[in-house]
Amino acid sequence: MLSKVKTTTLKGIDGVEVLVEVDIGNGLPSFTIVGLPTESVEESKERVRAAIKNAGFEFPIRKITVNLAPADVKKDGTYFDLPIAVGILSIIGVVKDQDKMNDFYFLGELSLDGSIRKIVGALPMVSSLKKGSKVIAPYDLMSEISIVEDVDIYFVKHLKEVVEFINGDRSIEPVRTDLTKILESEFLEEEDFSDIKGQYQAKRAVEIAVAGGHNIVMIGSPGSGKTLIARRIPSIFPPLTKEESLEITKIYSVSNLLGSGVVNKRPFRSPHSSATLPSIIGGGNPVKPGEVSLSHNGVLFLDELGEFRRDVLESLRQPMEDGFVVITRAKERVMFPSNFMLVAAMNPCPCGWFGDKEHPCTCSISEIKRYRNRVSGPIWDRFDIQIEVPRLLPHELVHDSKSESSKSIRDRVIKARIIQQERYKDTKIKNNASLTPRSIKAFIKLGHEEKVFLENASTRLGLTGRGFDKILKVARTIADIEGSELVRLPHIAEALQYRFDLSLNT
Ligand SMILES: Nc1ncnc2c1ncn2[C@@H]1O[C@H](COP(=O)(O)OP(=O)(O)OP(=O)(O)O)[C@@H](O)[C@H]1O
Ligand SMILES: [Mg+2]
Repeated sequence: MLSKVKTTTLKGIDGVEVLVEVDIGNGLPSFTIVGLPTESVEESKERVRAAIKNAGFEFPIRKITVNLAPADVKKDGTYFDLPIAVGILSIIGVVKDQDKMNDFYFLGELSLDGSIRKIVGALPMVSSLKKGSKVIAPYDLMSEISIVEDVDIYFVKHLKEVVEFINGDRSIEPVRTDLTKILESEFLEEEDFSDIKGQYQAKRAVEIAVAGGHNIVMIGSPGSGKTLIARRIPSIFPPLTKEESLEITKIYSVSNLLGSGVVNKRPFRSPHSSATLPSIIGGGNPVKPGEVSLSHNGVLFLDELGEFRRDVLESLRQPMEDGFVVITRAKERVMFPSNFMLVAAMNPCPCGWFGDKEHPCTCSISEIKRYRNRVSGPIWDRFDIQIEVPRLLPHELVHDSKSESSKSIRDRVIKARIIQQERYKDTKIKNNASLTPRSIKAFIKLGHEEKVFLENASTRLGLTGRGFDKILKVARTIADIEGSELVRLPHIAEALQYRFDLSLNT
């Protein structure tokens, strides 16, 4: 006799439907699962066998064969415990209503005592199901997956409950949570820009960066507040939309990093400078997202930029340009989103004090050059905004009164972003930072005075073509914050301040 049970498994951050076929026949008693890697097969068989017995049912001493179709999706053993158990129980007549059973997708790992445990990556799996699908899932996944719209999810704690429910001996209502409500509920942002004294230029630069989607690097001596500022950047982003929250939650779901349900804050990730390439880009077996994806829709902060390995920094260029990473393995090709804002910090020199108002620097010019050369030109060019963050003197730290809150900065950011959305609505351009050299010509028109000013500045500062474009993009954002349709001279003049020459030639 054959029974077929529907379930789903994971591919990257998408779900793939899998049909679990169970056959029980006459012959020498055995229990075989086809299509799973050997190590996980044995464990899954043990769990299924023990769970069925400990739930109070009889495990058939016959020839049991389980096949997982399609054969070519990569499968991890823990995903199929519940569907395999349900398949076996339906053939031996414990699960009586086959038609009702066929209505559901079954999700969950079994404990030896028959309780149902949550699995990693459930949100992407359930989100990929067709509208109107019905799912039986582990109770512990409620806060994670009940936000999926158009799918009815029935949460269960034990194999026994599943049997009773299918047989009509127990009623369970589907649970759905409104994601919009979760996102609307005010959460207290612990880190606010009002904590930061002085540093007006840095705060202004950060506001421009977030408004236009520009990457930013801060150079300053130890204790100048670079980390302090970086950590507060997510607090001036617009609130997460439903789609953004879902995208991030899926990534955290497959990474097994979900705390209590949905991600409702923008990510802030700060990997250590010793981070490896796979931990940044993604990799491993099974393939897991890296930091570029864990910071999707949020901030990736590289503290001590010069300490990162060159290949790691170079590898950021593709995900930054495309907004996603593709990880290719012998048998699979997985795509993860990676649309993050890059924020970096570094000291001006090895000892850290070059340019400080009080503290003498002990480095030689060649040492400083070598230190700065660790960051390649092409990487440096990725930062539209480069600023110095000077250390405040002790009396400035004591006296300066409370400054502007994140909320009021955020209001300006939101306005500037709406202006950009409107301007680029018929194009693929997301924001000013993503303007290509060609689209710059189309969207940023300068008056005569502005052109002359920029050309002069360009000659004086020895700007390259790319440097020139960066000034224009940042100037466009400054104009947008001001609500000015045209990019004017003061906007360009301000944009010119946000560049830092690593080479020590100026
Ligand atoms: N502008 C400021 N307003 C309030 N506190 C400040 C300011 N600047 C520095 N501080 C204080 O100094 C501490 C050190 O700042 P932070 O760690 O951000 O420095 P940093 O620039 O990241 O230094 P490093 O180069 O050593 O990483 C902060 O925790 C904070 O208490
Ligand atoms: Mg720091």
